[in-house]
Amino acid sequence: MLGTDELAREKSAGLRAAGAAVRELPTFEEGSLAGARLVFDATGDEEVNRRVWEEAERLDILVNVVDRPERCRFIMPAVVNREPLLVAISTSGESPFLASALRARLERMLGAEWGPFVARVGAIRRALRAEGVPLAAQTAVYRRLLRSGVRLLLREGRQSEADYEAAAIAASAGRPQPGRVALVGAGPGDPDLLTLGAQERLFDADVVFHDALVSAAVLALAGPQAELVDVGKRAGGRSTEQTAINQAMIEAARAGHEVVRLKGGDPFVFGRGGEEMAALLDAGIEVIVVPGVSSALAAPAAAGIPLTMRGVASSFAVATAHAADEEGPRLERLAEAADTLILLMPLATLRETAARLARVVGLQRPAALVSGATTRQQAVIRAPLGGLANAVLKSPLEGPAVLVVGEVVDALPVAASLAAAAADA
Ligand SMILES: C[S@@+](CC[C@H](N)C(=O)[O-])C[C@H]1O[C@@H](n2cnc3c(N)ncnc32)[C@H](O)[C@@H]1O
Repeated sequence: MLGTDELAREKSAGLRAAGAAVRELPTFEEGSLAGARLVFDATGDEEVNRRVWEEAERLDILVNVVDRPERCRFIMPAVVNREPLLVAISTSGESPFLASALRARLERMLGAEWGPFVARVGAIRRALRAEGVPLAAQTAVYRRLLRSGVRLLLREGRQSEADYEAAAIAASAGRPQPGRVALVGAGPGDPDLLTLGAQERLFDADVVFHDALVSAAVLALAGPQAELVDVGKRAGGRSTEQTAINQAMIEAARAGHEVVRLKGGDPFVFGRGGEEMAALLDAGIEVIVVPGVSSALAAPAAAGIPLTMRGVASSFAVATAHAADEEGPRLERLAEAADTLILLMPLATLRETAARLARVVGLQRPAALVSGATTRQQAVIRAPLGGLANAVLKSPLEGPAVLVVGEVVDALPVAASLAAAAADA
């Protein structure tokens, strides 16, 4: 190791930790490199760099001159060390800063539990191989381990429970296992609003049954092994019968697949998640639920409209404009009871809905339609209830929309500028 600065000290420490015998040389002299296997030159001195390079080349020693990619025969990647798991990151010398920024991110993603987890999977692998378990059955075990609660147990320091669960999975090698269904909320559109749990389920899924509204960017998170099935319903478009969807999920789970049912927003908010869960449980299928960010909350927020605000509104209600009449004048009662009213699927009956609400809260009550919330197509139309339907006639909205009614619509000056920016987009 040539050089004495912090970088040199850091690299020396890393090399020693990896088992290398490190010789530190404050300066370079002809012949200094004799006997070395690797040379790392962190002197930053151009003349020294040149001489080190020439001697290393002559003696056939691998050399790395800091910040001189043309004088490097090997790279020093940034390393995420979760022994026995090692992840090396290199930007091919383009940006050591980015390499270490990426390492910091990956370190947060790959928690300390990954070390003992990989070690356990390794031990199981050796055992399965020794028993002559066929490769396909081994792979099924590794997949189940990855999807199991073993990592979480290790993260929480519950070693013996982790060992117990891992051993049970290993013991099941070669026996067909039932799959399960995860009802997963995909959020309102922006992939950034997907939860970490939703991402995990997508990474691991064998089959993803998804709504039409789920964006391509979100679907792209599904692993290469995943089959994507569009079972979406859009106004006027193709739709798959609910019973057919339920049946397809039941069959996929019974075939041992890890099934994801991916729904826009939250699966239990006007998404038929409840009905699907009931059908799955009825069929004896294991179901897990991963809540999502509902458009009912995300659309107003993305338009800069707070649902509650001290002195303005302290309650809100969420309903759909469609089913409003099933049990009498529910909409009117909700509009009376809650300071802020949020209606999903409001466009088809907008004029009639606005008129009904206006009879209770007045024609001047502020209202806003937020469509395509959190996507590039986000648009916001604001008008008092009495003028809303005409405003939408003038600039029709594409895509799904949420109606917000209440004083909160005009509560923030920033809301107006956000809305204008979105409408211009
Ligand atoms: C069948 S419901 C499903 C709601 C979903 N489960 C949720 O929690 O957002 C579909 C309605 O959600 C609303 N919606 C979904 N995504 C939206 C978005 N990005 N912007 C505005 N509204 C949205 C619209 O009212 C749409 O008609």
